[in-house]
Amino acid sequence: LDRPRVLSGIQPTAGSFHLGNYLGAVRQWVALQESHDAFYMVVDLHAITVPQDPTALRANTRLAAAQLLAAGLDPERCTLFIQSHVPEHAQLAWVMNCLTGFGEASRMTQFKDKSAKQGADRTSVGLFTYPILQIADILLYQAHQVPVGEDQRQHIELTRDLAERFNGRYGDTFTVPAPYILKETGKVYDLQDPTVKMSKSASSAKGIINLLDEPKTSAKKIKSAVTDTDTVIRYDAEAKPGVSNLLTIYSTLTGESVTDLEKKYEGKMYGALKTDLAEIMVDFVTPFRDRTQEYLDDPETLDSVLAKGAEKARAVAAETLASTYERIGF
Ligand code: ADP
Ligand code: NA
Repeated sequence: LDRPRVLSGIQPTAGSFHLGNYLGAVRQWVALQESHDAFYMVVDLHAITVPQDPTALRANTRLAAAQLLAAGLDPERCTLFIQSHVPEHAQLAWVMNCLTGFGEASRMTQFKDKSAKQGADRTSVGLFTYPILQIADILLYQAHQVPVGEDQRQHIELTRDLAERFNGRYGDTFTVPAPYILKETGKVYDLQDPTVKMSKSASSAKGIINLLDEPKTSAKKIKSAVTDTDTVIRYDAEAKPGVSNLLTIYSTLTGESVTDLEKKYEGKMYGALKTDLAEIMVDFVTPFRDRTQEYLDDPETLDSVLAKGAEKARAVAAETLASTYERIGF
């Protein structure tokens, strides 16, 4: 109880995690399980905001859990579970829906972007209220911090507003959470268009590194990453976004500082940096793929990890929901 609590989630829909998911979020989840009381989940309820094939959804949900274990989550050190196994998420989400203004929900930029792409008739109301389910996800666990990428900042801000609103109206009930977003890796950029974030929905095949792809494929994508017509290997996010993105990835995967990398590659060409980073990427994804496969090949262990996780999560979630209901007058 002394350790601060963290909560975060990842969608199962893409199959493979991409490098942005890993560097922006999952890597921090692994680190925080050592110092925090950590709750991590695969958010299958969020996944159905867009149509999903049931067989594929079930398989991808397990695949996401296997990847989280492969990335280094340890069920002895954190609580790993599937969102739909804990019905309190949907129950608290209704309460939060009723406390959120239509106007403030309408200001969520991620919804505006996604719905504009899909068109109003193909956009579900669930996609609109997605951030409100996310609010329930976080508040149920009384999380102090939420390790996510920069794209989630607005949703965490809304979560804080709603926690304060509920506490103000009904009395202290929820911990007001803070975003945990690293400056360096909060936004990993597309390899072909380094001015936009790497994303499963918007990136081209060459712009995104999927961790479960053939290692050779990922190496090739690094080698053909867009840089610039200059030749100097220097971190400058504004003027040299492509090179800077590669330096960030390199630095995060190896632990070498960007300053040290600038020195190491002084007078060298972009090709040298890319060749080395491609090799680093292969060394990173190869064991990740192998470990993911090992967890998939042992369904009993995976089931048991997820069942225990759901039980631990439900104990916390049920307590929060009960006190929330009580305060509301249920
Ligand atoms: P996506 O954003 O690709 O749809 P999710 O919504 O499941 O994937 O995001 C899972 C986590 O990965 C979130 O915390 C999100 O902020 C983070 N994330 C996604 N893309 C990036 C990126 N390009 N850079 C940093 N973090 C990212
Ligand atoms: Na998330």
